[in-house]
Amino acid sequence: MLNEPTHRFLRACHSLPVEQTPIWLMRQAGRYLPEYMRVRQQAGDFLALCKNPDLATEVTLQPVYRFDMDAAILFSDILVVPEAMGMSLSFGSGEGPVLEPVLRNAADLQRLTPVQPEEQLGYVLQTVTQIRQALAGRVPLIGFSGSPWTLATYMVEGGSSKTFRYIKGMLFDQPALLQQLLDQISDVVADYLNAQIAHGVQAVQIFDTWGGVLGPREFVAFSLRSIRRIVDRLQRTGADGQPVPVILFAKGCGALLEEMVATGCDVIGLDWTTDLASARRHVAQRAALQGNLDPAVLYASPQIIRQQVRRLLQDYGAHPGHIFNLGHGMAQDMDPQRVVDLVTAVREESRLLLQQQALQKG
Ligand code: CP3
Repeated sequence: MLNEPTHRFLRACHSLPVEQTPIWLMRQAGRYLPEYMRVRQQAGDFLALCKNPDLATEVTLQPVYRFDMDAAILFSDILVVPEAMGMSLSFGSGEGPVLEPVLRNAADLQRLTPVQPEEQLGYVLQTVTQIRQALAGRVPLIGFSGSPWTLATYMVEGGSSKTFRYIKGMLFDQPALLQQLLDQISDVVADYLNAQIAHGVQAVQIFDTWGGVLGPREFVAFSLRSIRRIVDRLQRTGADGQPVPVILFAKGCGALLEEMVATGCDVIGLDWTTDLASARRHVAQRAALQGNLDPAVLYASPQIIRQQVRRLLQDYGAHPGHIFNLGHGMAQDMDPQRVVDLVTAVREESRLLLQQQALQKG
Protein backbone atom coordinates (compact mmCIF):
# COMPACT_ATOMS: atom_id res chain seq x y z
CA MET A 1 0.00 0.00 0.00
CA LEU A 2 1.24 3.44 -0.90
CA ASN A 3 1.69 5.63 2.18
CA GLU A 4 1.35 2.71 4.56
CA PRO A 5 0.19 3.96 7.98
CA THR A 6 2.38 3.34 11.05
CA HIS A 7 -0.15 3.52 13.89
CA ARG A 8 -1.52 0.12 14.75
CA PHE A 9 -5.12 1.36 14.80
CA LEU A 10 -4.91 2.63 11.21
CA ARG A 11 -2.92 -0.43 10.13
CA ALA A 12 -5.65 -2.73 11.47
CA CYS A 13 -8.35 -0.65 9.72
CA HIS A 14 -6.57 -1.44 6.43
CA SER A 15 -6.03 -5.10 7.43
CA LEU A 16 -2.25 -4.65 7.63
CA PRO A 17 -0.27 -6.76 10.14
CA VAL A 18 0.28 -5.44 13.69
CA GLU A 19 2.31 -6.70 16.67
CA GLN A 20 -0.62 -6.29 19.10
CA THR A 21 -4.34 -5.76 18.62
CA PRO A 22 -5.27 -2.06 18.82
CA ILE A 23 -7.99 -1.05 21.26
CA TRP A 24 -10.25 1.94 21.83
CA LEU A 25 -13.74 2.02 23.36
CA MET A 26 -16.94 3.62 22.20
CA ARG A 27 -17.86 6.37 24.70
CA GLN A 28 -14.38 6.13 26.18
CA ALA A 29 -14.79 9.73 27.34
CA GLY A 30 -17.79 10.17 29.59
CA ARG A 31 -19.50 10.13 32.91
CA TYR A 32 -17.72 7.05 34.33
CA LEU A 33 -14.54 9.19 34.52
CA PRO A 34 -14.34 11.58 37.51
CA GLU A 35 -12.06 13.90 35.50
CA TYR A 36 -14.80 14.11 32.82
CA MET A 37 -17.39 15.09 35.44
CA ARG A 38 -15.12 17.87 36.66
CA VAL A 39 -14.68 19.34 33.17
CA ARG A 40 -18.38 18.96 32.35
CA GLN A 41 -19.21 20.92 35.48
CA GLN A 42 -16.74 23.59 34.46
CA ALA A 43 -18.48 23.84 31.07
CA GLY A 44 -21.97 24.01 32.68
CA ASP A 45 -23.61 21.15 30.83
CA PHE A 46 -22.95 18.49 28.19
CA LEU A 47 -23.87 20.60 25.15
CA ALA A 48 -21.81 23.55 26.39
CA LEU A 49 -18.91 21.12 26.75
CA CYS A 50 -19.33 19.98 23.12
CA LYS A 51 -19.28 23.62 22.01
CA ASN A 52 -16.15 24.59 23.92
CA PRO A 53 -13.14 23.47 21.82
CA ASP A 54 -10.63 23.79 24.71
CA LEU A 55 -12.70 21.67 27.09
CA ALA A 56 -13.87 19.22 24.39
CA THR A 57 -10.21 18.70 23.51
CA GLU A 58 -9.39 18.08 27.16
CA VAL A 59 -12.06 15.38 27.61
CA THR A 60 -11.12 13.74 24.29
CA LEU A 61 -7.58 13.27 25.62
CA GLN A 62 -8.55 12.05 29.11
CA PRO A 63 -9.08 8.36 28.24
CA VAL A 64 -6.18 8.38 25.76
CA TYR A 65 -3.77 9.33 28.53
CA ARG A 66 -5.40 7.44 31.39
CA PHE A 67 -5.64 4.12 29.52
CA ASP A 68 -3.10 4.54 26.73
CA MET A 69 -5.78 3.90 24.08
CA ASP A 70 -4.71 3.31 20.48
CA ALA A 71 -7.09 5.95 19.12
CA ALA A 72 -8.82 9.12 20.25
CA ILE A 73 -12.43 9.81 19.27
CA LEU A 74 -13.62 13.36 18.81
CA PHE A 75 -15.72 14.44 21.78
CA SER A 76 -19.06 15.63 20.45
CA ASP A 77 -22.49 14.14 19.81
CA ILE A 78 -24.35 12.86 16.75
CA LEU A 79 -27.24 15.23 17.52
CA VAL A 80 -25.32 18.42 16.77
CA VAL A 81 -26.18 17.73 13.11
CA PRO A 82 -29.99 18.08 13.51
CA GLU A 83 -29.28 21.18 15.58
CA ALA A 84 -27.18 22.59 12.72
CA MET A 85 -30.13 21.84 10.40
CA GLY A 86 -32.28 24.19 12.46
CA MET A 87 -33.82 22.05 15.21
CA SER A 88 -33.50 22.97 18.84
CA LEU A 89 -31.52 20.46 20.92
CA SER A 90 -31.41 20.01 24.66
CA PHE A 91 -30.38 17.25 27.03
CA GLY A 92 -32.90 17.19 29.86
CA SER A 93 -31.48 15.68 33.04
CA GLY A 94 -32.21 11.96 33.03
CA GLU A 95 -34.69 11.73 30.18
CA GLY A 96 -32.19 11.87 27.31
CA PRO A 97 -32.02 14.23 24.34
CA VAL A 98 -34.92 16.41 23.14
CA LEU A 99 -35.17 17.75 19.55
CA GLU A 100 -37.88 20.29 18.71
CA PRO A 101 -40.10 20.86 16.84
CA VAL A 102 -40.46 17.31 15.49
CA LEU A 103 -40.68 16.51 11.77
CA ARG A 104 -43.83 14.70 10.72
CA ASN A 105 -44.85 15.96 7.24
CA ALA A 106 -43.59 17.66 4.07
CA ALA A 107 -44.17 21.16 5.49
CA ASP A 108 -42.04 20.30 8.54
CA LEU A 109 -39.15 19.27 6.26
CA GLN A 110 -39.29 22.68 4.60
CA ARG A 111 -38.15 24.22 7.86
CA LEU A 112 -34.77 22.46 7.75
CA THR A 113 -31.94 24.79 6.80
CA PRO A 114 -28.90 24.11 4.56
CA VAL A 115 -25.69 23.49 6.46
CA GLN A 116 -22.23 24.92 5.87
CA PRO A 117 -20.15 22.81 8.28
CA GLU A 118 -17.62 25.66 8.70
CA GLU A 119 -20.43 27.86 9.97
CA GLN A 120 -22.98 25.96 12.03
CA LEU A 121 -20.49 23.24 13.04
CA GLY A 122 -17.36 25.38 13.11
CA TYR A 123 -16.85 24.65 16.81
CA VAL A 124 -16.52 20.92 16.05
CA LEU A 125 -13.96 21.58 13.31
CA GLN A 126 -12.04 23.90 15.64
CA THR A 127 -12.03 21.08 18.21
CA VAL A 128 -10.65 18.67 15.58
CA THR A 129 -7.81 21.07 14.83
CA GLN A 130 -6.99 21.50 18.52
CA ILE A 131 -7.11 17.77 19.28
CA ARG A 132 -4.70 17.02 16.45
CA GLN A 133 -2.33 19.67 17.77
CA ALA A 134 -2.59 18.34 21.33
CA LEU A 135 -2.14 14.70 20.27
CA ALA A 136 0.99 15.57 18.27
CA GLY A 137 0.86 12.25 16.44
CA ARG A 138 0.61 10.10 19.58
CA VAL A 139 -2.45 8.20 18.27
CA PRO A 140 -4.87 8.75 15.37
CA LEU A 141 -8.06 10.79 15.78
CA ILE A 142 -11.42 9.28 14.79
CA GLY A 143 -14.19 11.63 13.61
CA PHE A 144 -17.81 10.52 13.42
CA SER A 145 -21.40 11.14 12.50
CA GLY A 146 -24.71 9.45 13.09
CA SER A 147 -26.17 7.63 10.08
CA PRO A 148 -29.04 9.41 8.32
CA TRP A 149 -31.52 6.79 9.53
CA THR A 150 -30.38 7.06 13.15
CA LEU A 151 -30.43 10.87 13.02
CA ALA A 152 -33.88 10.79 11.38
CA THR A 153 -35.25 8.67 14.25
CA TYR A 154 -34.37 11.44 16.70
CA MET A 155 -35.64 14.19 14.38
CA VAL A 156 -39.01 12.53 13.77
CA GLU A 157 -39.57 11.07 17.26
CA GLY A 158 -38.26 14.21 19.00
CA GLY A 159 -35.83 12.17 21.10
CA SER A 160 -35.13 8.59 22.10
CA SER A 161 -37.87 6.08 21.44
CA LYS A 162 -38.78 2.53 22.37
CA THR A 163 -41.38 1.90 19.66
CA PHE A 164 -40.24 4.19 16.81
CA ARG A 165 -43.90 4.83 16.16
CA TYR A 166 -43.62 8.04 14.15
CA ILE A 167 -40.53 7.29 12.09
CA LYS A 168 -41.83 3.82 11.22
CA GLY A 169 -45.22 5.32 10.49
CA MET A 170 -43.49 7.63 8.02
CA LEU A 171 -41.48 4.75 6.57
CA PHE A 172 -44.56 2.67 5.77
CA ASP A 173 -47.10 5.43 5.01
CA GLN A 174 -44.89 8.05 3.34
CA PRO A 175 -41.74 6.27 2.13
CA ALA A 176 -40.92 8.96 -0.45
CA LEU A 177 -41.05 11.67 2.22
CA LEU A 178 -38.71 9.67 4.45
CA GLN A 179 -36.29 9.10 1.55
CA GLN A 180 -36.31 12.83 0.88
CA LEU A 181 -35.45 13.50 4.52
CA LEU A 182 -32.72 10.83 4.47
CA ASP A 183 -31.20 12.28 1.28
CA GLN A 184 -31.16 15.73 2.81
CA ILE A 185 -29.44 14.43 5.96
CA SER A 186 -27.00 12.33 3.86
CA ASP A 187 -25.77 15.39 2.00
CA VAL A 188 -25.20 17.27 5.25
CA VAL A 189 -23.41 14.28 6.81
CA ALA A 190 -21.15 13.84 3.76
CA ASP A 191 -20.16 17.52 3.83
CA TYR A 192 -19.68 17.38 7.59
CA LEU A 193 -17.47 14.28 7.51
CA ASN A 194 -15.45 15.73 4.62
CA ALA A 195 -14.94 18.90 6.67
CA GLN A 196 -13.78 16.78 9.65
CA ILE A 197 -11.33 14.99 7.32
CA ALA A 198 -10.08 18.30 5.92
CA HIS A 199 -9.46 19.48 9.49
CA GLY A 200 -7.45 16.39 10.32
CA VAL A 201 -9.50 13.37 11.48
CA GLN A 202 -7.69 10.21 10.35
CA ALA A 203 -10.64 7.80 10.30
CA VAL A 204 -14.41 8.26 10.44
CA GLN A 205 -17.07 6.15 12.11
CA ILE A 206 -20.72 6.19 11.11
CA PHE A 207 -22.99 5.23 14.03
CA ASP A 208 -26.16 3.47 12.93
CA THR A 209 -27.32 2.87 16.47
CA TRP A 210 -30.92 2.20 15.39
CA GLY A 211 -30.35 0.22 12.17
CA GLY A 212 -31.29 -2.91 14.09
CA VAL A 213 -34.88 -1.84 14.72
CA LEU A 214 -35.59 -2.23 10.98
CA GLY A 215 -36.45 -5.39 9.10
CA PRO A 216 -33.72 -6.53 6.70
CA ARG A 217 -35.35 -5.05 3.57
CA GLU A 218 -36.02 -1.73 5.24
CA PHE A 219 -32.51 -1.63 6.69
CA VAL A 220 -31.05 -1.96 3.20
CA ALA A 221 -33.53 0.39 1.50
CA PHE A 222 -33.60 3.15 4.11
CA SER A 223 -30.43 2.97 6.18
CA LEU A 224 -27.71 1.37 4.06
CA ARG A 225 -28.83 3.17 0.93
CA SER A 226 -28.14 6.54 2.51
CA ILE A 227 -24.90 5.34 4.12
CA ARG A 228 -23.68 4.23 0.72
CA ARG A 229 -24.56 7.64 -0.67
CA ILE A 230 -22.32 9.19 1.98
CA VAL A 231 -19.42 6.74 1.56
CA ASP A 232 -19.48 7.40 -2.19
CA ARG A 233 -19.06 11.12 -1.52
CA LEU A 234 -16.32 10.92 1.10
CA GLN A 235 -12.90 12.35 0.47
CA ARG A 236 -10.92 9.28 1.46
CA THR A 237 -7.50 10.84 1.49
CA GLY A 238 -6.65 12.88 4.56
CA ALA A 239 -4.95 16.23 4.89
CA ASP A 240 -1.65 14.31 5.32
CA GLY A 241 -2.11 12.27 2.12
CA GLN A 242 -2.97 9.08 4.03
CA PRO A 243 -6.07 7.03 3.26
CA VAL A 244 -8.96 7.67 5.69
CA PRO A 245 -10.74 4.44 6.65
CA VAL A 246 -14.52 4.40 7.10
CA ILE A 247 -15.95 2.38 10.00
CA LEU A 248 -19.62 1.42 9.93
CA PHE A 249 -21.15 0.49 13.28
CA ALA A 250 -24.73 -0.66 12.80
CA LYS A 251 -26.11 -2.02 16.05
CA GLY A 252 -28.19 -5.17 15.80
CA CYS A 253 -27.38 -5.74 12.13
CA GLY A 254 -24.86 -8.58 12.30
CA ALA A 255 -27.03 -10.74 10.05
CA LEU A 256 -26.47 -8.34 7.14
CA LEU A 257 -22.67 -8.21 6.93
CA GLU A 258 -22.66 -8.71 3.18
CA GLU A 259 -24.92 -5.73 2.66
CA MET A 260 -22.78 -3.62 4.98
CA VAL A 261 -19.59 -4.48 3.07
CA ALA A 262 -21.38 -3.34 -0.09
CA THR A 263 -21.55 0.24 1.22
CA GLY A 264 -17.80 0.51 0.56
CA CYS A 265 -16.77 0.87 4.22
CA ASP A 266 -13.35 -0.45 5.30
CA VAL A 267 -14.28 -1.63 8.79
CA ILE A 268 -17.47 -3.09 10.21
CA GLY A 269 -18.18 -2.48 13.89
CA LEU A 270 -20.03 -5.37 15.51
CA ASP A 271 -22.20 -5.48 18.60
CA TRP A 272 -21.76 -8.44 20.97
CA THR A 273 -24.62 -10.51 19.55
CA THR A 274 -22.58 -11.48 16.48
CA ASP A 275 -20.07 -14.33 16.55
CA LEU A 276 -16.69 -12.79 15.71
CA ALA A 277 -15.24 -15.99 14.22
CA SER A 278 -18.04 -16.49 11.74
CA ALA A 279 -18.19 -12.77 10.92
CA ARG A 280 -14.48 -12.89 10.07
CA ARG A 281 -14.90 -15.91 7.83
CA HIS A 282 -17.70 -14.07 6.12
CA VAL A 283 -15.96 -10.78 5.35
CA ALA A 284 -12.28 -11.85 5.34
CA GLN A 285 -10.18 -9.94 2.79
CA ARG A 286 -12.99 -7.44 2.22
CA ALA A 287 -13.37 -5.59 5.51
CA ALA A 288 -11.68 -5.35 8.89
CA LEU A 289 -13.78 -5.92 12.02
CA GLN A 290 -14.12 -3.82 15.16
CA GLY A 291 -15.53 -5.13 18.43
CA ASN A 292 -17.22 -6.85 20.00
CA LEU A 293 -16.98 -7.51 23.73
CA ASP A 294 -20.27 -7.34 25.62
CA PRO A 295 -19.85 -4.08 27.61
CA ALA A 296 -21.34 -5.90 30.63
CA VAL A 297 -18.15 -7.98 30.88
CA LEU A 298 -16.69 -4.83 32.47
CA TYR A 299 -18.92 -5.48 35.49
CA ALA A 300 -17.13 -8.81 36.02
CA SER A 301 -13.85 -9.59 37.82
CA PRO A 302 -10.42 -8.96 36.21
CA GLN A 303 -9.98 -12.75 35.81
CA ILE A 304 -13.22 -13.07 33.86
CA ILE A 305 -12.41 -9.99 31.77
CA ARG A 306 -9.11 -11.60 30.76
CA GLN A 307 -10.79 -14.91 29.97
CA GLN A 308 -13.39 -13.18 27.78
CA VAL A 309 -10.70 -11.14 26.02
CA ARG A 310 -8.67 -14.28 25.28
CA ARG A 311 -11.74 -16.02 23.87
CA LEU A 312 -12.59 -13.09 21.61
CA LEU A 313 -9.00 -12.76 20.34
CA GLN A 314 -8.94 -16.49 19.62
CA ASP A 315 -12.28 -16.25 17.81
CA TYR A 316 -10.80 -13.66 15.48
CA GLY A 317 -7.54 -15.60 15.24
CA ALA A 318 -4.09 -14.35 14.28
CA HIS A 319 -5.29 -12.59 11.14
CA PRO A 320 -4.79 -8.93 10.35
CA GLY A 321 -7.76 -6.57 10.53
CA HIS A 322 -9.09 -6.68 14.10
CA ILE A 323 -9.66 -3.60 16.24
CA PHE A 324 -10.67 -4.45 19.79
CA ASN A 325 -13.70 -2.54 21.11
CA LEU A 326 -16.89 -3.05 23.05
CA GLY A 327 -20.07 -4.05 21.25
CA HIS A 328 -21.55 -0.70 22.35
CA GLY A 329 -20.53 2.25 24.51
CA MET A 330 -19.18 2.49 28.05
CA ALA A 331 -21.92 2.95 30.67
CA GLN A 332 -22.00 5.62 33.32
CA ASP A 333 -21.68 3.21 36.26
CA MET A 334 -18.58 1.39 35.05
CA ASP A 335 -15.33 1.26 37.02
CA PRO A 336 -12.34 2.86 35.26
CA GLN A 337 -10.08 0.24 36.89
CA ARG A 338 -11.85 -2.48 34.88
CA VAL A 339 -10.88 -0.58 31.72
CA VAL A 340 -7.24 -0.78 32.84
CA ASP A 341 -7.71 -4.55 33.29
CA LEU A 342 -9.28 -4.79 29.83
CA VAL A 343 -6.59 -2.81 28.00
CA THR A 344 -3.81 -4.76 29.77
CA ALA A 345 -5.43 -8.08 28.89
CA VAL A 346 -5.88 -7.12 25.23
CA ARG A 347 -2.22 -6.03 24.97
CA GLU A 348 -0.76 -9.10 26.68
CA GLU A 349 -3.04 -11.73 25.22
CA SER A 350 -2.91 -10.41 21.65
CA ARG A 351 0.91 -10.18 21.69
CA LEU A 352 1.06 -13.78 22.85
CA LEU A 353 -1.40 -14.97 20.21
CA LEU A 354 0.30 -13.08 17.37
CA GLN A 355 3.78 -14.25 18.46
CA GLN A 356 2.68 -17.89 18.69
CA GLN A 357 1.27 -17.63 15.20
CA ALA A 358 4.51 -16.07 13.87
CA LEU A 359 6.54 -18.90 15.48
CA GLN A 360 4.34 -21.57 13.92
CA LYS A 361 4.69 -19.91 10.52
CA GLY A 362 8.45 -19.31 10.90
O1 CP3 B 1 -17.26 7.79 22.12
C1 CP3 B 1 -16.87 8.89 22.59
O2 CP3 B 1 -16.18 8.97 23.64
C2 CP3 B 1 -17.17 10.14 21.80
C3 CP3 B 1 -18.29 10.92 22.19
C4 CP3 B 1 -19.70 10.51 21.82
C5 CP3 B 1 -20.81 10.88 22.61
N1 CP3 B 1 -21.95 10.53 21.96
C6 CP3 B 1 -20.72 11.58 23.89
C7 CP3 B 1 -21.89 11.65 24.77
C8 CP3 B 1 -20.22 9.85 20.70
C9 CP3 B 1 -19.47 9.20 19.55
C10 CP3 B 1 -21.64 9.88 20.81
C11 CP3 B 1 -22.54 9.34 19.77
C12 CP3 B 1 -23.98 9.23 20.06
N2 CP3 B 1 -24.80 10.13 20.66
C13 CP3 B 1 -24.80 8.16 19.61
C14 CP3 B 1 -24.33 6.99 18.80
C15 CP3 B 1 -23.55 6.04 19.60
C16 CP3 B 1 -24.37 5.17 20.52
O3 CP3 B 1 -24.26 5.36 21.73
O4 CP3 B 1 -25.06 4.30 20.00
C17 CP3 B 1 -26.11 8.42 20.03
C18 CP3 B 1 -27.33 7.54 19.80
C19 CP3 B 1 -26.10 9.67 20.68
C20 CP3 B 1 -27.27 10.41 21.22
C21 CP3 B 1 -27.13 10.64 22.67
N3 CP3 B 1 -26.18 11.46 23.24
C22 CP3 B 1 -27.94 10.15 23.70
C23 CP3 B 1 -29.10 9.20 23.51
C24 CP3 B 1 -27.45 10.71 24.89
C25 CP3 B 1 -28.07 10.67 26.27
C26 CP3 B 1 -28.05 9.40 26.92
C27 CP3 B 1 -27.62 9.52 28.34
O5 CP3 B 1 -26.86 8.65 28.74
O6 CP3 B 1 -28.02 10.48 29.01
C28 CP3 B 1 -26.31 11.46 24.60
C29 CP3 B 1 -25.46 12.19 25.57
C30 CP3 B 1 -23.99 11.91 25.55
N4 CP3 B 1 -23.22 11.83 24.41
C31 CP3 B 1 -23.13 11.79 26.68
C32 CP3 B 1 -21.82 11.63 26.20
C33 CP3 B 1 -20.55 11.54 26.99
C34 CP3 B 1 -23.56 11.90 28.12
C35 CP3 B 1 -23.82 13.33 28.36
C36 CP3 B 1 -23.50 13.80 29.74
O7 CP3 B 1 -22.32 14.09 30.02
O8 CP3 B 1 -24.44 13.94 30.52
